Amino acid sequence: MILPIITILNPILRQRAKELSLEEIKTPAIQKLIVDMKETVIPAGGVGLAAPQVGVSIRLVIIAIQDKKIALINPEIINFSWRKEIAEEGCLSVPGKWGAVKRSKTVSVKAQNENGEVIKFKARDLFARVIQHEIDHLNGVLFIDRSKRVIEEEAQKI
Ligand code: NI
Repeated sequence: MILPIITILNPILRQRAKELSLEEIKTPAIQKLIVDMKETVIPAGGVGLAAPQVGVSIRLVIIAIQDKKIALINPEIINFSWRKEIAEEGCLSVPGKWGAVKRSKTVSVKAQNENGEVIKFKARDLFARVIQHEIDHLNGVLFIDRSKRVIEEEAQKI
């Protein structure tokens, strides 16, 4: 089921999302939400989707790059590379706006998968950027908070 995505004025986007226990991860409701979020992200035109963006304030994100869709639950960045990169970002919850954001080029991530198993991995480049963007959503942070210059679609057309 494709889920509606909430946008910037909705206060859920500004909340700190709640951790999920192992029992909660295994519930049909959460498993269904993971399936629905995976179905939603690509048609919505995204490379990632955080649960608060579909109105559910829990620590769950979907990353959809390189033909793979992975669910990360209770994700944490345990190491940020010193090396940073600046690139343009947008967000499904902030329609019509883009902005350059400086982020770590590589990050080490600890999370749980959809079975609740603990996983650790290193991500770089776009993968690292999307993870940092999505984890920001779990902390009520949007890319516009991190970008020094946000460009609106209308302004670009001139
Ligand atoms: Ni976003």
